[in-house]
Amino acid sequence: MLSEQFLQELKLRNDIEGVISSYVPVKRRGRNLVCLCPFHNEKSPSFTVYPDNQSFYCFGCGTGGDVITFIRRVENLEYIEAVKLLADRAGLAMPEDGYDDRAARMKSRVLEANRETARFYFSCLMSPMGKQALEYLRGRGLSDATIRRFGLGFAPDSWDMTLRHLTQKGFTREELAAACIAVQSSKDKTRYFDQFRGRVMFPIIDIRGNVIAFGGRIMGEGGPKYLNSPDTPVFKKSRNLFALNLAKATKENVLILAEGYMDVIALHQGGFGNAVATLGTSLTSEQARLISQYANTVVIAYDSDGAGQAATKRAINIFGEIGLKVKVLSMTGAKDPDEYIKKYGSQRFKLLIDGSDSAMNFEIEKIRSQYDLDTAEGKVAYLKDFVAFMAGISSEIERDVYISRTAEEMRVEKSTLLLQVDHAIRQRTRSAEKKQARDLSTFAVDKKDRSDPERSRNIRAALAEERLIAILFKNPDYRDYLLSRISPEEFITAFNRQVFSCLCDRLEENESLDMIALSAVFDQAQMGRISGIIAAADGQNFTRDEAEDYIKVIKDQAKQKTPQELAQMNDQELKQYIAGLAGKKPKATL
Ligand code: CTP
Ligand code: MN
Repeated sequence: MLSEQFLQELKLRNDIEGVISSYVPVKRRGRNLVCLCPFHNEKSPSFTVYPDNQSFYCFGCGTGGDVITFIRRVENLEYIEAVKLLADRAGLAMPEDGYDDRAARMKSRVLEANRETARFYFSCLMSPMGKQALEYLRGRGLSDATIRRFGLGFAPDSWDMTLRHLTQKGFTREELAAACIAVQSSKDKTRYFDQFRGRVMFPIIDIRGNVIAFGGRIMGEGGPKYLNSPDTPVFKKSRNLFALNLAKATKENVLILAEGYMDVIALHQGGFGNAVATLGTSLTSEQARLISQYANTVVIAYDSDGAGQAATKRAINIFGEIGLKVKVLSMTGAKDPDEYIKKYGSQRFKLLIDGSDSAMNFEIEKIRSQYDLDTAEGKVAYLKDFVAFMAGISSEIERDVYISRTAEEMRVEKSTLLLQVDHAIRQRTRSAEKKQARDLSTFAVDKKDRSDPERSRNIRAALAEERLIAILFKNPDYRDYLLSRISPEEFITAFNRQVFSCLCDRLEENESLDMIALSAVFDQAQMGRISGIIAAADGQNFTRDEAEDYIKVIKDQAKQKTPQELAQMNDQELKQYIAGLAGKKPKATL
């Protein structure tokens, strides 16, 4: 456990406003700051930073906490690693001991093992054993310089050669299993064997230069064609991109997004060092955000087959939500960039990129192809669809360009189309506003409810409990008074009971109710809920009378019986019970 004093120092030197604004652009709103939530997609900001109590809370997705929770979320770190990052950032030395860094140590061992494994695979590729693999790669047009640049390798076709090499280097089998370089046999738990065997290996390297995972391609027939590392303590495939470490160094503000490892490698070799790929999954919004940190435009260069085109459409949507400019490459005569470059050369690929249609053309073309424009019905249906699509485009200039062009092509009045689009936009805005209002009021609660049915069953009492918790946060001096009126045991819902009693205990020990201290005790989801409770009471002051009202709501609820209990009562008991309720009508409205 870190000392209270250290955490206070950490908090002072890592003002939450400064830390969060180094990740996302924030805007001031009154005493607080708001921005688009970095943890879910949204169009208007519901992520709020509260400098007063050094916390944050997103009303959209319910994420919240202190500065440590923020760093854990945004950097995907364990508690102690996040503390270390913040200490580093502030030039603060970590306390010598007294904290558990087993997880952190395991992560760094896994990274070391990965690096050594990449070296080993490379040396195997260059040894006689890797002759066939090297021929395979050269046969696919890769130069030795490219092979070296990407650190490609060969995993020996053996059950344990990699394992033996790494254990000789001092890695334990547990470490190798955690790295997913070795696999524990399910039949005999004492046996381990190599995860990758007889494959050409592609190391996956993050932006800091760590080898975080591997992809391995089979050389002949058979399957699976690619075998990829599953998620490990150091790797999440939804959060990383192949070759981003190299692409980011080009400092171009355009990135090319391809589907496969081989496409990216061929592109780099052809002079397009700004190419990246997802890791065997379709694009996630986390990856799109990652791209947006390095580029303002992305060129989607997916395969030209149906699957590639469907994936392109999904990717356009994801990038659109993030606000990245999207261009779509349309390739004919080749199934993917790798094949295209091999067939037509990189100069022609450059022309393709320069002439690459905007996402808009791609979309319009897609819509148009669904209709038979030789018939009047087809035309009308197409224009209807076109109007709906245009209504979703935020830039007026862009809309104007495409509306003009389409009006001309379809021989209809531009003004008519414009009018229809305007109408559709107004409708859209109205329903979007309604939806957002609905989302804001229910989403955060919904999320909490799903994870806590007890809360939704007892929502009235739970809300009162949460107010009491907020009151205690604002007025720690109320502790004794509150405890004289209600004990934690009387709280209806387990989570609120736990929070309330933890806060009371801390005050008893003369410890602060600082969010930064609480994040050592509560997990990330719990921190989110606590921040939500505090955020809901932002800017309000509470009197003891109000506290009394909330206490009453809780106590009344305790007296209420469940339907099952009611069914078990006899008439006499039921009468008494109802009389009791009538005399004690809760007056507080929450
Ligand atoms: N992929 C995968 N597992 C598979 C097939 C594909 O993880 N069984 C992922 C890989 O990241 C691959 C990408 O999807 O790079 C694209 O697949 P595909 O187009 O089939 O492979 P290419 O990269 O084009 O590889 P190659 O040219 O060697 O066929
Ligand atoms: Mn390919």
